[in-house]
Amino acid sequence: MSAKSKGKILVVGGAGYIGSHAVKELNRQGYETVTFDNLVYGHRDAVKWGAFEEGDMANEARLRELFSSHEIAAVMHFAAYAYVGESVTDPEKYYFNNVAATLNLLKVMRAFGVDKFIFSSTCATYGEPQVVPIPENHPQNPINPYGMSKLMVEKILADYGRAYKLKSIAFRYFNAAGADPEGEIGERHDPETHLIPLVMEAILGGRKLKIFGDDYATEDGTCVRDYIHVVDLARAHILGLEKLLAGGESAVYNLGNGNGYSVKQIIETTEKVTGRKVPYDVAPRREGDPAALIGSAGKAVSELGWKPEFADIERIVETAWNWHGSRVESKV
Ligand SMILES: NC(=O)c1ccc[n+]([C@@H]2O[C@H](COP(=O)([O-])OP(=O)(O)OC[C@H]3O[C@@H](n4cnc5c(N)ncnc54)[C@H](O)[C@@H]3O)[C@@H](O)[C@H]2O)c1
Repeated sequence: MSAKSKGKILVVGGAGYIGSHAVKELNRQGYETVTFDNLVYGHRDAVKWGAFEEGDMANEARLRELFSSHEIAAVMHFAAYAYVGESVTDPEKYYFNNVAATLNLLKVMRAFGVDKFIFSSTCATYGEPQVVPIPENHPQNPINPYGMSKLMVEKILADYGRAYKLKSIAFRYFNAAGADPEGEIGERHDPETHLIPLVMEAILGGRKLKIFGDDYATEDGTCVRDYIHVVDLARAHILGLEKLLAGGESAVYNLGNGNGYSVKQIIETTEKVTGRKVPYDVAPRREGDPAALIGSAGKAVSELGWKPEFADIERIVETAWNWHGSRVESKV
């Protein structure tokens, strides 16, 4: 029996980047976890805490087996495909995995009487921002199937809440960044599309970074994004979990830093932290990239008592470098 909850916390997609940090933090705070992941993008060796069960959430029989063999108090759902460009060329893959397989998971939860659900949503549900920083009540008009798949799940959760009394928290993350400050886990996407690891790869692999557009209406012409440390994300999930375990109501929260940094500022910060030069080229703009995406996370701060600890961009880059640098240089 878990020290903190009656039953384990099921972390679906917990072998991935954000999920594995949530698993570590849950265990550190005294929760017992079971991680469920098909390892399509996750890494078995990233799950160093709690139980691990390999499987696909599209497989209902496998989910039933999982819920029969573990007493589950609540579910944190990180599993999804998250490549925006691929979602445009292959929407079926995204709607099947992110929506249909999630329905499976919700169905089995209901069959086993599990009614607490924490969901990884995204700022991509907002689409082109009309105001910055973006508040939770900003219109949601996603401009790609990835964002649409997450918005669909948000709508499903609201309907399930009304009909079946499911209690859910959807966290709309901005750009997850950084790594476990103890260096045990970090970001390992393949292919990698996120800026900070790409900057590190450019330093370590000598491959030039591509900046997509330097003629945006921002201070230095490059795109501005809101980077939020993965451990701060993990802690917000636990605050959300505590709210639901205490009988709290469903809610939606942005998770961001409230500060934006441009691509060039990330490059400069990385050069400062690492003492190395980042080689880069400027390429044309990519379609669908807004100039600035910054979130307002005041609601999570005031309602959940969330306080990002790694808000400083240098700290975020330092932890990422600690992870990437040590992995590459230990192989040399
Ligand atoms: N990384 C970000 O900046 C960011 C921003 C906004 C939202 N999100 C969302 O957060 C979540 C986690 O993101 P991440 O960066 O850790 O991604 P990730 O790819 O590292 O982790 C997702 C995990 O889910 C697993 N998975 C996928 N489909 C599965 C299935 N059908 N059954 C079982 N396991 C499955 C993968 O193997 C992987 O381990 C995703 O839902 C993503 O859409 C991420």
